[in-house]
Amino acid sequence: MKVTFIGLGIMGSRMAANLLKHQINLTVFNRSKDAMIPLVNAGAKSANSIQEAVQEADVVISMLSTPIVVESVFIEDGKALDHFKEGAIWIDCSTVNPSFSKKMEVTARQRKISFIDAPVAGTKPHAENAELVFFVGGQEATVEKVHPILAMMGKKIMHLGDNGMGSKFKMLVNMMLAQSMIIFSETILLGEKMGLDKSFLLNTIPNLVVSAPFTKFKASMIAADDYAVQFPLEWMHKDLHLASQTAYEYQQPLLLANLAKEMYANAVKKGYSRLDFAAIHKFLEEK
Ligand SMILES: NC(=O)c1ccc[n+]([C@@H]2O[C@H](COP(=O)([O-])OP(=O)(O)OC[C@H]3O[C@@H](n4cnc5c(N)ncnc54)[C@H](OP(=O)(O)O)[C@@H]3O)[C@@H](O)[C@H]2O)c1
Repeated sequence: MKVTFIGLGIMGSRMAANLLKHQINLTVFNRSKDAMIPLVNAGAKSANSIQEAVQEADVVISMLSTPIVVESVFIEDGKALDHFKEGAIWIDCSTVNPSFSKKMEVTARQRKISFIDAPVAGTKPHAENAELVFFVGGQEATVEKVHPILAMMGKKIMHLGDNGMGSKFKMLVNMMLAQSMIIFSETILLGEKMGLDKSFLLNTIPNLVVSAPFTKFKASMIAADDYAVQFPLEWMHKDLHLASQTAYEYQQPLLLANLAKEMYANAVKKGYSRLDFAAIHKFLEEK
């Protein structure tokens, strides 16, 4: 089976590296060419263009930043979909909005390509250690075919239903993540202001039943004032924007997530895009 991986950023570079550990026949492609070098050194082939990258692949995996970028690479400027083999499978792992995943499925089907949405939970270390959780939407038969490939990059594959279901669930998870980070951050800041010890707060609050468990990992970033990127803050802003857009499509009010979105928007404006999203704490601290 020939596999092509497109989008070698923080997540994609590590996911592709795990495929190589299983001796997969892998071609890689990335807009910035330097990202391909370590993977080529580890045994992958590099393609000179997006069209060349996809033309012989049985399975194409994408891990790109935003729906606009996915559309530009696969449909508009890059027109990658026009160069797929008939019967190939496209797995989009990018975090996108559910209606966009549906649109990609329809567009792919018109070209006799099977599509699944398979966004992931987990961040840089989980991608590195093949411990991602895949939220998958797509037809059973297609999901079964690619299950072994996903299992090389993750510890759990949750097939949630038809196309779009993976993206729907991922969006809910990130809405919780974005807001929980702000709640944690405001709690720490007020605690400190009231004279409670910062180390005590950072060590104790994440272990309370009222806390989101992931705050344990973010507490150490706050303690060290080091927000080296795992999940870029700019993509958290994007995910909240996609949630807001989706809520509009469903005519469902979304009050706090929209407020959170604007807080992340301000942090982006302040230059925090490529810090970890936990840097929303730094933003609130300095405000
Ligand atoms: N990081 C995480 O913890 C995490 C966790 C779960 C899900 N996600 C999601 O996974 C996706 C990738 O995240 P990431 O953290 O790996 O992001 P990233 O490091 O910013 O990588 C983004 C990728 O998209 C490519 N790209 C951006 N703009 C492009 C354009 N105009 N044309 C072609 N390619 C373009 C980049 O290419 P260049 O290298 O050329 O810029 C890079 O390969 C996002 O949807 C994100 O929300 C991330």
